[in-house]
Amino acid sequence: MAKYEFVVALVLGLSLLGLTSAGDPDILTDFVALNGTIIDGNFFTFTGMRSLIKAGPPTAFTVTKASAKEFPALEGQSVSYAVLEFPAGAVNPPHTHPRGSELLFLTYGTLQVGFVDTTNKLFTQTLQAGDMFIFPKGLVHFQFNSNQTDDAVAVSAFGSASAGLVSVPVTVFETNIDSGILAKSFKTTVNTIQALKAGLAPPPASE
Ligand SMILES: *[C@@H]1O[C@H](CO)[C@@H](O)[C@H](O)[C@H]1NC(C)=O
Ligand SMILES: *[C@@H]1O[C@H](CO)[C@@H](O)[C@H](O)[C@H]1NC(C)=O
Repeated sequence: MAKYEFVVALVLGLSLLGLTSAGDPDILTDFVALNGTIIDGNFFTFTGMRSLIKAGPPTAFTVTKASAKEFPALEGQSVSYAVLEFPAGAVNPPHTHPRGSELLFLTYGTLQVGFVDTTNKLFTQTLQAGDMFIFPKGLVHFQFNSNQTDDAVAVSAFGSASAGLVSVPVTVFETNIDSGILAKSFKTTVNTIQALKAGLAPPPASE
């Protein structure tokens, strides 16, 4: 029946459309540049990681990003990078990237990683230098360098030019959500919530 065939074709078509739009929205030009930008080799080059090569290892967990904000030529290209540096014992607390999956490549040291899926199942691994780990888009994940003497360094690629960051501790405890609401949510006391809030630094600038 023609009507039935039409519906099947529509469903198939929509599912194909879903596959092709799994990253950032497609752009209709080769690249995107703000009006007035000089388009030459420099526009397509990011030198912001050179400082990492020169600098010694940091004393706290440090992320250096090359997303569309730092590297405007990435706009519309559905890719970005971050370099993650973990001193001995450093943690990257539970967080999500709402707009992109993350492919982490451990280049130095060892690293404990994990994420939780939407059925609340935890997946963990201890990575060695040279290993890769994929954090699926939008899922809560963390990284921890449990080595007490050595640094760990990872390069993460994202399937979005602007993957975004939602930090669980910051989002929950540093955005002025009422302590009474949090106490009820976590089945604890307002004092405990206030202690947690006090222990966290002021929130970083939004992005
Ligand atoms: C871009 O710049 C040109 C010349 O400076 C101007 O004529 C044009 O209106 C601008 N376009 C946009 C979209 O701002
Ligand atoms: C981690 O720590 C141990 C000592 O506890 C050391 O033997 C090891 O080489 C360190 N580094 C890495 C990258 O595992």
